[in-house]
Amino acid sequence: MTQISAAITAVGKYLPDYILTNAELETMVDTNDEWILSRTGIKERRILKGKGRGSSFMAIRAAKDLFEKSNINPKEIELVIVATATPDMQAASTAAYTATEIGATNAFTFDLISACSSFLYAMSTAARYIESGKYKKVLLIGADKNSSMIDYTDRATCIIFGDGAGAILFEPNMQGYGLQDEVLQTDGSGREFLQVPAGGSQLPASIETIKNGQHFVHQDGRTVFKYAVSKMAEVTEKILERNQLKKENIDWLAAHQANKRIIDATGRLIKLDESQIMINIEKYGNTTSATLPLLLNDYEKQLKIGDKIIFAAFGGGFSWGAIYLTWAYNTK
Ligand code: UT7
Repeated sequence: MTQISAAITAVGKYLPDYILTNAELETMVDTNDEWILSRTGIKERRILKGKGRGSSFMAIRAAKDLFEKSNINPKEIELVIVATATPDMQAASTAAYTATEIGATNAFTFDLISACSSFLYAMSTAARYIESGKYKKVLLIGADKNSSMIDYTDRATCIIFGDGAGAILFEPNMQGYGLQDEVLQTDGSGREFLQVPAGGSQLPASIETIKNGQHFVHQDGRTVFKYAVSKMAEVTEKILERNQLKKENIDWLAAHQANKRIIDATGRLIKLDESQIMINIEKYGNTTSATLPLLLNDYEKQLKIGDKIIFAAFGGGFSWGAIYLTWAYNTK
């Protein structure tokens, strides 16, 4: 029997119109364009404005973009996963609302939440449904409204994050293209270094938590940076070894866009040319669950059938991992 692989067959994206530049940040906190650019590689990021708009607002638009580009009928979608660190609300899943709004009325849905690794883990999850042979169309959307949990008086975090959404479609492939291998890991002892302390079950919202700014992202940037570089390198190396891949065999690195210096360090490890390292952090900053699908959108026209792509991510939890995937289509 031919083995079923889970291949990416379409992509879509949505970015809010509002552009928050380094120059504007200079008027908000004690920072400057030169520092931000040299330490992070970020020039600007998008911010979702408008009352009552959550991550689903962007997820819906990214999915519609995918449908328009690929002529997919939403009714054929059997599962919608929304990878996010900023769901619309705590109890009702963002994926359920999103699926209904895009007309995916035959799908079941769930959110997958694991900070900056949400999308990577969700790729693994989506692939398992396809590989089972029971599902033919799984829509995976990464959407984050990071601006909803950023303190715009804290220069350590407000310069990094942005809002955005990207969508990909997984379908069965019989030629062997698609997800090939993965290494996914976590270490809960890292949670003190990157978290939103309040608003969950451990520390519910109260006047005190609001006064103390505990609904904002708090991170020890230096520690996160150190772990991100070493852990992403470790899993990437493991994937290469396990699949007997050498520098000349890899076409692309699609790494989580958190800091250009982290991406460069991972790229150096696999000894890729700069031109093979997907990068768009300068335009969007760190969009958490949207970084990987936004990369695929921006590079779609350059990707060819059979291209070998290494995905890598690191985020809160700590959570991290790498996925090896071969590309399944040429863009018309
Ligand atoms: O995606 C989820 C995972 N998150 C990440 O991967 C983030 C990982 N961390 C980082 O990207 C970096 O640690 C940051 C971009 C957050 C910070 O860069 P850094 O090179 O690690 O800076 P630092 O925190 O070590 O600070 C260096 C200096 C300090 O000044 P002193 O103590 O040397 O005088 C900071 O106070 O830079 C100062 N600084 C700033 N200066 C201007 C910190 N933030 C800023 C700023 N503008 N925005």
